[in-house]
Amino acid sequence: MTTVIKGGTVVTADYSYVADVLVEGGKIIGIGPDLKGDEVLDASGCYVMPGGIDPHTHLEMPFMGTYSSDDFESGTRAALAGGTTMVVDFALPSPDQGLLDALQMWDNKSTRAHCDYSFHMAITSWSEKIWNEMETVVKERGITTFKHFMAYKGSLMVNDDELYASFRRCAELGAIPLVHAENGDVVAELSARLLAEGNNGPEGHAYSRPPQVEGEATNRAIMIADMAGVPLYVVHVSCEDSHEAIRRARMMGKRVWGEPLIQHLTLDESEYFDKDWDHAARRVMSPPFRNKMHQDSLWNGLASGSLSCVATDHCAFTTDQKRYGVGDFTKIPNGTGGLEDRIPMLWTYGVGTGRLTKEEFVAVTSTNIAKILNCYPRKGAVLVGADADLVVLDPEKTKTITAASQQSAIDYNVFEGKEVKGLPRFVLTRGRVAVMDGDLKPAEGHGQFVKRPASGAVNTALSSWKALTAPRAVERTGIPASGV
Ligand code: URP
Ligand code: ZN
Ligand code: ZN
Ligand code: ZN
Repeated sequence: MTTVIKGGTVVTADYSYVADVLVEGGKIIGIGPDLKGDEVLDASGCYVMPGGIDPHTHLEMPFMGTYSSDDFESGTRAALAGGTTMVVDFALPSPDQGLLDALQMWDNKSTRAHCDYSFHMAITSWSEKIWNEMETVVKERGITTFKHFMAYKGSLMVNDDELYASFRRCAELGAIPLVHAENGDVVAELSARLLAEGNNGPEGHAYSRPPQVEGEATNRAIMIADMAGVPLYVVHVSCEDSHEAIRRARMMGKRVWGEPLIQHLTLDESEYFDKDWDHAARRVMSPPFRNKMHQDSLWNGLASGSLSCVATDHCAFTTDQKRYGVGDFTKIPNGTGGLEDRIPMLWTYGVGTGRLTKEEFVAVTSTNIAKILNCYPRKGAVLVGADADLVVLDPEKTKTITAASQQSAIDYNVFEGKEVKGLPRFVLTRGRVAVMDGDLKPAEGHGQFVKRPASGAVNTALSSWKALTAPRAVERTGIPASGV
Protein backbone atom coordinates (compact mmCIF):
# COMPACT_ATOMS: atom_id res chain seq x y z
CA MET A 1 0.00 0.00 0.00
CA THR A 2 1.51 3.33 -1.07
CA THR A 3 0.37 6.83 -0.17
CA VAL A 4 1.14 9.83 -2.33
CA ILE A 5 1.01 13.42 -1.08
CA LYS A 6 0.16 15.31 -4.25
CA GLY A 7 0.45 18.86 -5.45
CA GLY A 8 2.15 20.46 -2.44
CA THR A 9 5.32 22.48 -1.97
CA VAL A 10 8.01 20.57 -0.10
CA VAL A 11 9.64 22.82 2.47
CA THR A 12 12.96 21.81 3.96
CA ALA A 13 15.46 23.66 6.13
CA ASP A 14 17.46 24.36 2.92
CA TYR A 15 14.92 25.28 0.27
CA SER A 16 11.39 24.77 -1.06
CA TYR A 17 10.18 23.20 -4.29
CA VAL A 18 7.03 21.75 -5.85
CA ALA A 19 6.95 17.93 -5.71
CA ASP A 20 4.83 14.92 -4.78
CA VAL A 21 5.98 12.69 -1.93
CA LEU A 22 5.48 8.92 -2.07
CA VAL A 23 5.31 6.86 1.11
CA GLU A 24 5.45 3.10 1.70
CA GLY A 25 6.15 0.95 4.74
CA GLY A 26 6.57 3.98 6.98
CA LYS A 27 9.31 5.51 4.82
CA ILE A 28 9.55 8.11 2.09
CA ILE A 29 10.30 6.16 -1.08
CA GLY A 30 10.01 8.85 -3.74
CA ILE A 31 9.98 12.63 -4.22
CA GLY A 32 9.31 14.19 -7.60
CA PRO A 33 6.70 15.17 -10.19
CA ASP A 34 3.65 13.06 -11.13
CA LEU A 35 4.06 10.29 -8.57
CA LYS A 36 1.24 7.75 -8.20
CA GLY A 37 0.05 5.88 -5.11
CA ASP A 38 -2.83 3.71 -3.87
CA GLU A 39 -4.01 6.46 -1.51
CA VAL A 40 -3.87 10.12 -2.61
CA LEU A 41 -3.63 13.01 -0.15
CA ASP A 42 -4.38 16.33 -1.82
CA ALA A 43 -1.76 18.85 -0.70
CA SER A 44 -2.60 21.60 -3.19
CA GLY A 45 -2.02 25.02 -1.64
CA CYS A 46 -0.13 23.34 1.24
CA TYR A 47 3.43 23.01 2.51
CA VAL A 48 4.82 19.48 2.99
CA MET A 49 7.32 19.59 5.82
CA PRO A 50 9.13 17.25 8.20
CA GLY A 51 6.86 16.56 11.19
CA GLY A 52 7.65 18.66 14.22
CA ILE A 53 10.03 17.30 16.83
CA ASP A 54 9.46 18.60 20.34
CA PRO A 55 12.69 17.99 22.22
CA HIS A 56 11.35 18.94 25.63
CA THR A 57 8.30 17.32 27.24
CA HIS A 58 7.40 16.04 30.71
CA LEU A 59 4.63 13.47 30.35
CA GLU A 60 3.23 11.91 33.53
CA MET A 61 6.22 13.20 35.44
CA PRO A 62 6.35 13.07 39.24
CA PHE A 63 7.09 16.66 40.25
CA MET A 64 6.39 19.00 43.18
CA GLY A 65 4.20 16.50 45.00
CA THR A 66 2.06 15.48 42.05
CA TYR A 67 2.23 14.13 38.47
CA SER A 68 1.98 16.21 35.31
CA SER A 69 -1.48 15.52 33.91
CA ASP A 70 -0.77 14.68 30.28
CA ASP A 71 0.62 11.19 29.89
CA PHE A 72 2.08 9.57 26.77
CA GLU A 73 -1.43 8.88 25.52
CA SER A 74 -2.94 12.37 25.73
CA GLY A 75 0.41 14.10 25.25
CA THR A 76 1.32 12.44 21.98
CA ARG A 77 -2.28 12.70 20.76
CA ALA A 78 -2.01 16.46 21.33
CA ALA A 79 1.36 16.45 19.58
CA LEU A 80 -0.02 14.83 16.42
CA ALA A 81 -3.08 17.10 16.37
CA GLY A 82 -0.68 20.03 16.19
CA GLY A 83 1.75 18.59 13.63
CA THR A 84 4.41 17.24 15.98
CA THR A 85 5.43 13.68 15.15
CA MET A 86 8.16 13.01 17.70
CA VAL A 87 8.62 14.03 21.33
CA VAL A 88 11.67 13.68 23.53
CA ASP A 89 10.68 13.20 27.15
CA PHE A 90 12.80 13.40 30.31
CA ALA A 91 13.26 10.17 32.29
CA LEU A 92 13.60 11.52 35.81
CA PRO A 93 15.01 9.33 38.60
CA SER A 94 13.53 10.03 42.03
CA PRO A 95 16.01 10.60 44.90
CA ASP A 96 18.15 7.47 45.39
CA GLN A 97 16.75 5.83 42.25
CA GLY A 98 19.18 4.56 39.62
CA LEU A 99 19.05 5.60 35.98
CA LEU A 100 18.07 2.16 34.72
CA ASP A 101 15.23 1.84 37.23
CA ALA A 102 13.87 5.21 36.14
CA LEU A 103 14.15 4.18 32.49
CA GLN A 104 12.11 1.07 33.21
CA MET A 105 9.32 3.31 34.49
CA TRP A 106 9.48 5.49 31.37
CA ASP A 107 9.45 2.38 29.16
CA ASN A 108 6.23 1.28 30.86
CA LYS A 109 4.51 4.65 30.51
CA SER A 110 5.48 5.24 26.91
CA THR A 111 3.89 2.08 25.45
CA ARG A 112 0.73 4.17 24.90
CA ALA A 113 2.40 6.75 22.64
CA HIS A 114 0.66 7.70 19.39
CA CYS A 115 3.86 9.01 17.77
CA ASP A 116 7.55 8.19 17.96
CA TYR A 117 9.52 9.32 20.96
CA SER A 118 12.92 9.28 22.56
CA PHE A 119 14.19 10.07 26.05
CA HIS A 120 16.71 12.33 27.70
CA MET A 121 18.05 10.95 30.97
CA ALA A 122 18.08 13.30 33.97
CA ILE A 123 21.03 13.34 36.37
CA THR A 124 19.44 14.31 39.69
CA SER A 125 22.18 13.02 42.00
CA TRP A 126 25.76 11.84 41.64
CA SER A 127 27.43 8.55 42.64
CA GLU A 128 29.63 5.79 41.24
CA LYS A 129 26.45 3.88 40.36
CA ILE A 130 25.18 6.79 38.26
CA TRP A 131 28.60 7.13 36.60
CA ASN A 132 28.52 3.40 35.69
CA GLU A 133 24.91 3.39 34.52
CA MET A 134 25.49 6.32 32.18
CA GLU A 135 27.50 3.99 29.95
CA THR A 136 24.66 1.46 29.74
CA VAL A 137 22.16 4.24 29.06
CA VAL A 138 24.25 5.46 26.12
CA LYS A 139 25.55 2.22 24.66
CA GLU A 140 22.66 -0.15 25.22
CA ARG A 141 19.65 2.14 25.37
CA GLY A 142 20.63 4.70 22.74
CA ILE A 143 19.94 7.65 25.03
CA THR A 144 22.75 10.11 24.51
CA THR A 145 21.52 13.26 26.22
CA PHE A 146 21.69 13.93 29.97
CA LYS A 147 19.72 16.69 31.67
CA HIS A 148 21.00 18.62 34.69
CA PHE A 149 18.91 20.93 36.85
CA MET A 150 20.84 23.90 38.24
CA ALA A 151 17.63 24.94 40.06
CA TYR A 152 15.01 23.22 42.29
CA LYS A 153 17.33 23.28 45.31
CA GLY A 154 16.67 20.42 47.71
CA SER A 155 15.11 18.17 45.08
CA LEU A 156 16.48 17.95 41.54
CA MET A 157 19.37 20.45 41.70
CA VAL A 158 22.97 19.34 41.18
CA ASN A 159 26.00 21.40 42.25
CA ASP A 160 28.97 22.53 40.18
CA ASP A 161 31.25 19.63 41.18
CA GLU A 162 28.52 17.19 40.11
CA LEU A 163 27.94 19.12 36.89
CA TYR A 164 31.62 18.98 36.03
CA ALA A 165 31.88 15.26 36.82
CA SER A 166 28.80 14.41 34.79
CA PHE A 167 29.85 16.65 31.88
CA ARG A 168 33.24 14.88 31.84
CA ARG A 169 31.42 11.54 31.73
CA CYS A 170 29.29 12.80 28.84
CA ALA A 171 32.46 13.83 27.00
CA GLU A 172 33.94 10.32 27.45
CA LEU A 173 30.76 8.67 26.23
CA GLY A 174 30.15 10.96 23.25
CA ALA A 175 26.95 12.22 24.89
CA ILE A 176 25.51 15.74 25.23
CA PRO A 177 24.64 17.38 28.56
CA LEU A 178 21.52 19.54 28.80
CA VAL A 179 20.99 22.16 31.49
CA HIS A 180 18.06 23.87 33.12
CA ALA A 181 20.09 26.98 33.82
CA GLU A 182 18.92 29.00 36.82
CA ASN A 183 20.96 29.75 39.94
CA GLY A 184 19.02 27.57 42.39
CA ASP A 185 20.74 28.99 45.48
CA VAL A 186 19.75 32.55 44.62
CA VAL A 187 16.20 31.49 43.67
CA ALA A 188 15.82 29.79 47.07
CA GLU A 189 17.03 32.93 48.90
CA LEU A 190 14.83 35.28 46.90
CA SER A 191 11.81 33.03 47.35
CA ALA A 192 12.23 32.90 51.12
CA ARG A 193 12.59 36.68 51.31
CA LEU A 194 9.53 37.32 49.13
CA LEU A 195 7.42 34.96 51.24
CA ALA A 196 8.67 36.57 54.47
CA GLU A 197 7.59 39.95 53.07
CA GLY A 198 4.10 38.58 52.41
CA ASN A 199 4.57 38.37 48.65
CA ASN A 200 3.06 34.90 48.31
CA GLY A 201 1.02 35.12 45.05
CA PRO A 202 2.05 33.78 41.62
CA GLU A 203 3.78 37.09 40.79
CA GLY A 204 6.26 36.15 43.55
CA HIS A 205 7.37 33.26 41.33
CA ALA A 206 8.40 35.71 38.60
CA TYR A 207 10.15 38.03 41.09
CA SER A 208 12.09 35.09 42.51
CA ARG A 209 13.58 34.18 39.13
CA PRO A 210 14.86 37.38 37.48
CA PRO A 211 16.78 37.13 34.20
CA GLN A 212 20.09 37.43 36.07
CA VAL A 213 19.66 34.02 37.74
CA GLU A 214 19.30 32.52 34.29
CA GLY A 215 22.11 34.49 32.66
CA GLU A 216 24.55 33.62 35.45
CA ALA A 217 23.73 29.91 35.40
CA THR A 218 23.84 29.70 31.61
CA ASN A 219 27.27 31.31 31.53
CA ARG A 220 28.50 29.01 34.33
CA ALA A 221 27.22 25.88 32.58
CA ILE A 222 28.84 26.98 29.31
CA MET A 223 32.21 27.49 30.99
CA ILE A 224 31.99 24.17 32.85
CA ALA A 225 31.11 22.38 29.61
CA ASP A 226 34.03 24.04 27.86
CA MET A 227 36.42 22.90 30.58
CA ALA A 228 34.91 19.40 30.45
CA GLY A 229 35.36 19.36 26.66
CA VAL A 230 31.74 18.65 25.77
CA PRO A 231 29.00 20.41 23.75
CA LEU A 232 26.09 21.87 25.73
CA TYR A 233 22.36 22.25 25.08
CA VAL A 234 20.56 24.90 27.16
CA VAL A 235 16.84 24.20 27.55
CA HIS A 236 14.11 26.84 27.86
CA VAL A 237 16.21 29.94 27.17
CA SER A 238 13.81 32.72 28.17
CA CYS A 239 15.80 35.95 28.20
CA GLU A 240 18.50 38.09 26.65
CA ASP A 241 20.84 37.42 29.61
CA SER A 242 20.93 33.72 28.82
CA HIS A 243 20.82 34.23 25.06
CA GLU A 244 23.74 36.68 25.31
CA ALA A 245 25.86 34.07 27.10
CA ILE A 246 25.05 31.50 24.39
CA ARG A 247 25.66 33.96 21.55
CA ARG A 248 29.00 35.04 23.00
CA ALA A 249 30.08 31.44 23.53
CA ARG A 250 29.15 30.43 19.98
CA MET A 251 31.11 33.36 18.59
CA MET A 252 34.12 32.11 20.54
CA GLY A 253 33.87 28.65 18.99
CA LYS A 254 32.16 26.91 21.88
CA ARG A 255 29.61 24.28 20.91
CA VAL A 256 26.43 25.49 22.59
CA TRP A 257 22.80 25.34 21.49
CA GLY A 258 19.89 27.29 22.94
CA GLU A 259 16.22 26.29 22.97
CA PRO A 260 13.53 28.94 23.44
CA LEU A 261 9.95 27.83 24.13
CA ILE A 262 6.88 28.90 22.18
CA GLN A 263 5.45 30.19 25.48
CA HIS A 264 8.35 32.61 26.09
CA LEU A 265 8.21 33.79 22.48
CA THR A 266 4.51 34.68 22.59
CA LEU A 267 3.42 35.29 26.22
CA ASP A 268 4.81 37.92 28.57
CA GLU A 269 5.23 38.64 32.26
CA SER A 270 1.99 40.65 32.52
CA GLU A 271 0.22 37.27 32.85
CA TYR A 272 1.52 37.00 36.44
CA PHE A 273 -0.11 40.28 37.42
CA ASP A 274 -3.59 39.18 36.36
CA LYS A 275 -6.10 39.80 39.20
CA ASP A 276 -7.36 36.22 38.84
CA TRP A 277 -5.11 33.93 40.95
CA ASP A 278 -5.89 30.90 38.77
CA HIS A 279 -5.03 32.77 35.57
CA ALA A 280 -1.61 33.75 36.95
CA ALA A 281 -0.85 30.39 38.60
CA ARG A 282 -1.69 28.46 35.44
CA ARG A 283 1.21 30.31 33.79
CA VAL A 284 3.74 29.62 36.55
CA MET A 285 6.71 27.88 35.01
CA SER A 286 10.47 28.12 35.27
CA PRO A 287 11.93 30.28 33.92
CA PRO A 288 8.93 32.64 34.02
CA PHE A 289 7.61 34.65 31.09
CA ARG A 290 9.60 37.87 30.43
CA ASN A 291 9.04 41.30 28.88
CA LYS A 292 9.04 42.32 25.21
CA MET A 293 12.76 43.11 25.11
CA HIS A 294 13.55 39.52 26.04
CA GLN A 295 10.97 38.18 23.58
CA ASP A 296 12.55 40.21 20.76
CA SER A 297 15.94 38.80 21.72
CA LEU A 298 14.62 35.23 21.37
CA TRP A 299 13.01 35.91 17.99
CA ASN A 300 16.20 37.54 16.76
CA GLY A 301 18.23 34.57 17.98
CA LEU A 302 16.08 32.20 15.94
CA ALA A 303 16.43 34.34 12.82
CA SER A 304 20.18 34.79 13.20
CA GLY A 305 20.94 31.20 14.21
CA SER A 306 22.27 31.89 17.72
CA LEU A 307 19.24 29.97 19.04
CA SER A 308 18.51 26.61 17.48
CA CYS A 309 15.21 24.93 18.37
CA VAL A 310 11.73 25.85 19.58
CA ALA A 311 10.26 23.48 22.18
CA THR A 312 7.30 23.48 24.60
CA ASP A 313 8.60 22.02 27.90
CA HIS A 314 5.07 20.58 27.94
CA CYS A 315 4.43 19.91 31.64
CA ALA A 316 0.71 20.36 32.15
CA PHE A 317 -1.01 20.69 35.52
CA THR A 318 -4.73 21.16 36.12
CA THR A 319 -6.13 24.18 37.96
CA ASP A 320 -6.70 21.99 41.02
CA GLN A 321 -3.04 20.98 40.98
CA LYS A 322 -1.95 24.62 40.60
CA ARG A 323 -4.01 25.43 43.71
CA TYR A 324 -1.59 23.43 45.88
CA GLY A 325 0.24 26.76 45.92
CA VAL A 326 -2.49 29.06 47.26
CA GLY A 327 -0.77 31.16 49.93
CA ASP A 328 2.75 30.02 48.89
CA PHE A 329 3.89 30.45 45.28
CA THR A 330 6.80 28.03 45.81
CA LYS A 331 4.23 25.20 46.03
CA ILE A 332 2.54 25.95 42.67
CA PRO A 333 3.58 23.05 40.39
CA ASN A 334 5.86 24.57 37.76
CA GLY A 335 4.91 23.96 34.16
CA THR A 336 2.69 24.85 31.21
CA GLY A 337 1.34 23.00 28.18
CA GLY A 338 1.83 23.72 24.49
CA LEU A 339 2.34 20.47 22.54
CA GLU A 340 -0.70 20.96 20.32
CA ASP A 341 -0.05 24.67 19.81
CA ARG A 342 3.68 24.95 19.11
CA ILE A 343 3.53 24.53 15.33
CA PRO A 344 0.46 26.74 14.65
CA MET A 345 1.64 29.42 17.11
CA LEU A 346 5.17 29.56 15.69
CA TRP A 347 3.87 29.59 12.14
CA THR A 348 1.40 32.39 12.95
CA TYR A 349 3.73 34.58 15.02
CA GLY A 350 6.93 33.63 13.16
CA VAL A 351 6.28 32.97 9.47
CA GLY A 352 3.00 34.90 9.45
CA THR A 353 4.71 38.07 10.68
CA GLY A 354 7.89 37.72 8.61
CA ARG A 355 10.12 37.11 11.63
CA LEU A 356 11.02 33.68 10.22
CA THR A 357 11.15 32.21 6.73
CA LYS A 358 9.32 28.96 6.25
CA GLU A 359 12.68 27.20 5.81
CA GLU A 360 13.89 28.65 9.14
CA PHE A 361 10.61 27.43 10.63
CA VAL A 362 11.39 23.86 9.51
CA ALA A 363 14.93 24.19 10.86
CA VAL A 364 13.86 25.31 14.35
CA THR A 365 10.85 22.98 14.71
CA SER A 366 12.44 19.81 13.35
CA THR A 367 15.68 19.60 11.38
CA ASN A 368 18.09 21.32 13.79
CA ILE A 369 17.10 19.18 16.75
CA ALA A 370 17.22 15.97 14.67
CA LYS A 371 20.83 16.85 13.82
CA ILE A 372 21.73 17.77 17.41
CA LEU A 373 20.17 14.54 18.71
CA ASN A 374 21.91 12.53 16.00
CA CYS A 375 18.77 11.03 14.48
CA TYR A 376 18.91 13.00 11.20
CA PRO A 377 17.97 12.21 8.43
CA ARG A 378 15.81 9.41 9.77
CA LYS A 379 13.88 12.20 11.50
CA GLY A 380 13.65 15.89 10.61
CA ALA A 381 13.98 15.43 6.85
CA VAL A 382 11.92 15.12 3.68
CA LEU A 383 14.33 12.80 1.88
CA VAL A 384 14.05 9.38 0.28
CA GLY A 385 14.77 6.82 3.01
CA ALA A 386 13.65 9.07 5.87
CA ASP A 387 10.78 8.06 8.16
CA ALA A 388 7.51 9.34 6.73
CA ASP A 389 6.89 11.71 9.66
CA LEU A 390 5.31 14.55 7.72
CA VAL A 391 3.02 17.50 8.22
CA VAL A 392 1.02 18.94 5.35
CA LEU A 393 0.35 22.47 6.54
CA ASP A 394 -2.49 24.51 5.10
CA PRO A 395 -1.38 28.16 5.43
CA GLU A 396 -4.94 29.45 4.97
CA LYS A 397 -6.64 27.32 7.61
CA THR A 398 -7.46 29.18 10.85
CA LYS A 399 -8.75 28.44 14.33
CA THR A 400 -9.10 30.01 17.74
CA ILE A 401 -7.21 28.09 20.42
CA THR A 402 -9.51 26.95 23.24
CA ALA A 403 -9.22 24.49 26.09
CA ALA A 404 -12.65 23.17 25.14
CA SER A 405 -11.37 21.84 21.81
CA GLN A 406 -7.85 20.71 22.83
CA GLN A 407 -6.47 17.17 23.20
CA SER A 408 -4.57 17.88 26.41
CA ALA A 409 -6.13 16.51 29.60
CA ILE A 410 -6.01 19.81 31.48
CA ASP A 411 -8.88 22.27 31.93
CA TYR A 412 -7.32 25.43 30.43
CA ASN A 413 -4.89 26.53 27.75
CA VAL A 414 -2.31 29.29 28.26
CA PHE A 415 -2.92 30.38 24.63
CA GLU A 416 -6.72 30.53 25.09
CA GLY A 417 -8.31 32.89 22.55
CA LYS A 418 -5.29 33.21 20.25
CA GLU A 419 -6.20 33.18 16.56
CA VAL A 420 -3.81 30.99 14.59
CA LYS A 421 -3.45 30.72 10.83
CA GLY A 422 -1.56 27.71 9.43
CA LEU A 423 -2.85 24.30 10.55
CA PRO A 424 -2.22 20.68 9.59
CA ARG A 425 -4.38 19.26 6.81
CA PHE A 426 -2.59 15.91 7.08
CA VAL A 427 -0.10 14.53 9.58
CA LEU A 428 1.73 11.26 8.95
CA THR A 429 3.53 9.33 11.65
CA ARG A 430 5.82 6.72 10.05
CA GLY A 431 3.46 6.64 7.11
CA ARG A 432 0.26 6.31 9.12
CA VAL A 433 -2.19 9.16 8.46
CA ALA A 434 -2.96 10.50 11.94
CA VAL A 435 -4.61 13.73 10.82
CA MET A 436 -6.87 13.30 7.79
CA ASP A 437 -8.27 16.48 6.26
CA GLY A 438 -7.90 18.20 9.62
CA ASP A 439 -9.51 15.37 11.63
CA LEU A 440 -7.49 13.45 14.19
CA LYS A 441 -7.33 9.64 13.73
CA PRO A 442 -5.27 8.55 16.72
CA ALA A 443 -3.81 5.05 17.20
CA GLU A 444 -2.61 4.43 20.73
CA GLY A 445 0.61 2.42 20.85
CA HIS A 446 1.70 3.22 17.29
CA GLY A 447 4.66 5.25 18.59
CA GLN A 448 8.08 3.61 18.75
CA PHE A 449 11.16 4.45 20.75
CA VAL A 450 13.92 6.13 18.70
CA LYS A 451 17.41 4.95 19.66
CA ARG A 452 20.14 7.49 19.00
CA PRO A 453 23.83 6.76 18.47
CA ALA A 454 26.48 8.56 20.51
CA SER A 455 29.42 10.57 19.17
CA GLY A 456 27.64 12.78 16.67
CA ALA A 457 29.57 15.09 14.39
CA VAL A 458 29.88 17.96 16.87
CA ASN A 459 31.04 15.72 19.73
CA THR A 460 33.65 14.16 17.44
CA ALA A 461 34.93 17.49 16.14
CA LEU A 462 35.10 19.01 19.62
CA SER A 463 36.95 15.97 21.01
CA SER A 464 39.53 16.28 18.22
CA TRP A 465 40.00 19.97 18.95
CA LYS A 466 40.26 19.42 22.71
CA ALA A 467 42.82 16.63 22.18
CA LEU A 468 44.86 18.89 19.91
CA THR A 469 44.86 21.76 22.40
CA ALA A 470 45.18 19.67 25.61
CA PRO A 471 47.94 20.50 28.13
CA ARG A 472 51.26 18.89 27.22
CA ALA A 473 54.46 18.66 29.24
CA VAL A 474 57.26 20.71 27.64
CA GLU A 475 60.18 18.57 26.47
CA ARG A 476 63.17 20.46 27.83
CA THR A 477 66.76 20.29 26.70
CA GLY A 478 68.43 21.09 30.00
CA ILE A 479 67.18 20.19 33.44
CA PRO A 480 68.86 21.98 36.38
CA ALA A 481 70.29 19.71 39.07
CA SER A 482 67.94 19.48 42.01
CA GLY A 483 68.61 21.51 45.12
CA VAL A 484 70.91 24.02 43.36
O1 URP B 1 8.42 24.98 34.95
C1 URP B 1 8.88 24.05 34.28
N1 URP B 1 9.71 24.32 33.32
N2 URP B 1 8.49 22.79 34.57
C2 URP B 1 8.96 21.60 34.01
C3 URP B 1 10.25 21.15 34.62
C4 URP B 1 11.41 21.95 34.08
O2 URP B 1 12.00 22.73 34.79
O3 URP B 1 11.73 21.82 32.90
ZN1 ZN C 1 13.55 23.09 33.38
ZN1 ZN D 1 -7.86 34.31 32.76
ZN1 ZN E 1 11.40 20.94 31.31
